[in-house]
Amino acid sequence: MRASKTPTMSSSSSINADEATDEGHGSVVIEDLRKEFDDVTAVDGLSLEIEAEEFLTLLGPSGCGKSTTLRLISGLETATSGTIKINGEDVTDIPANKRNTSMVFQEWALFPHMTVQENIAFGLEMRDVPKAEREERIEHALELIELPGYQDRKVSQLSGGQKQRIAMARSIVLEPDVLLFDEPLSSLDRSLRQTMQIELKNMQEELGITFIYVTHDQEEALTMSNRVAVMNDGHLEQVGETYELYEHPQSEFVANFVGETNFFTGVVSEIDVKTLVIDAEEGDIRVESEKTDQLSVGDSVHLTVRPEDIEIADSLDTPNRWECTIGDVVYKGSFIQYDVDVGDRTFLVEQQMRKTTTPRERGDSVDVGFSVEAGEVILDR
Ligand SMILES: Nc1ncnc2c1ncn2[C@@H]1O[C@H](COP(=O)(O)OP(=O)(O)OP(=O)(O)O)[C@@H](O)[C@H]1O
Ligand SMILES: [Mg+2]
Repeated sequence: MRASKTPTMSSSSSINADEATDEGHGSVVIEDLRKEFDDVTAVDGLSLEIEAEEFLTLLGPSGCGKSTTLRLISGLETATSGTIKINGEDVTDIPANKRNTSMVFQEWALFPHMTVQENIAFGLEMRDVPKAEREERIEHALELIELPGYQDRKVSQLSGGQKQRIAMARSIVLEPDVLLFDEPLSSLDRSLRQTMQIELKNMQEELGITFIYVTHDQEEALTMSNRVAVMNDGHLEQVGETYELYEHPQSEFVANFVGETNFFTGVVSEIDVKTLVIDAEEGDIRVESEKTDQLSVGDSVHLTVRPEDIEIADSLDTPNRWECTIGDVVYKGSFIQYDVDVGDRTFLVEQQMRKTTTPRERGDSVDVGFSVEAGEVILDR
């Protein structure tokens, strides 16, 4: 039987930990990376530093270049230009089987008629790991993925979640410095996916190796990662810790892609130390911002305000306040989501629900508003 594709690729010892520089065991440094396929630029000048033992997620919409970036790191694709360093060593022109990385694919690429043991052993045999050591490593990997004793099961007799774990074990036994995951959970159902997210995160901490994880699901990215790199159209939009991306998005794209938000667009009409007034279509909006020193009166800016940072009340005395009418009301358990009509625009508002909270109803006339600290100013670049 032949594998339709090589399930894992990884390596031997050309780059081993002892030779690592002070950039650390499993660090990846990408500089000005480009990949062109005929007339498509899949990766367009990407620079990104991934620390050793970090869990970093590449997040972005379909076609933005996530898989291509991962394949470039693994050596499955060759860069058009730019450099990739692993453990401080330039691996840009080193083939996949000489890089100490291993990839877990979305489609598991297991051999269905072989046993778990045979599937996991495959990559080790390719690298001439002796039998006794193979068996020991496989036993350990199966414990790690919480399927101890599964060596003799046929892959065809496993559930989807178990198959995905075996695919991970097959990569883990190779003891790579960097494990690469390309949407490994997307074919699992929601509850299994959530369980596996937590397990993967725990596994990463236990293994102490670098995980680079690709997803287009922002909730998954926030749940699992130390840091998230948001990609758009082949380039990096922003990289940061999950709360930074959510609370301080630096572009409209990031604000929209990570969570839901309300946008305001206008021109700066006043600046006073850290406070500025934005002359927007909805009226004057007063905000505090750390970015006032990068702004001048007359500059156009955007403001993003998260739904949970907008208040509704019978009467508000915040500086940014509008009279409004409640539109759609969606009960979500711990919170209620409202569409709130202010003139001809609609705000998205979320209100925390407690047992004692009385929800607003469609057609209610109330005030809607937010404080000067509620929004994040985005420079118009
Ligand atoms: N082998 C290839 N030949 C030609 N074009 C390619 C090739 N691989 C990828 N592309 C193109 O490069 C761009 C980026 O593709 P890539 O697979 O990296 O996206 P992605 O972010 O992983 O998307 P998805 O979330 O849908 O998996 C796309 O426009 C895609 O069509
Ligand atoms: Mg992809």
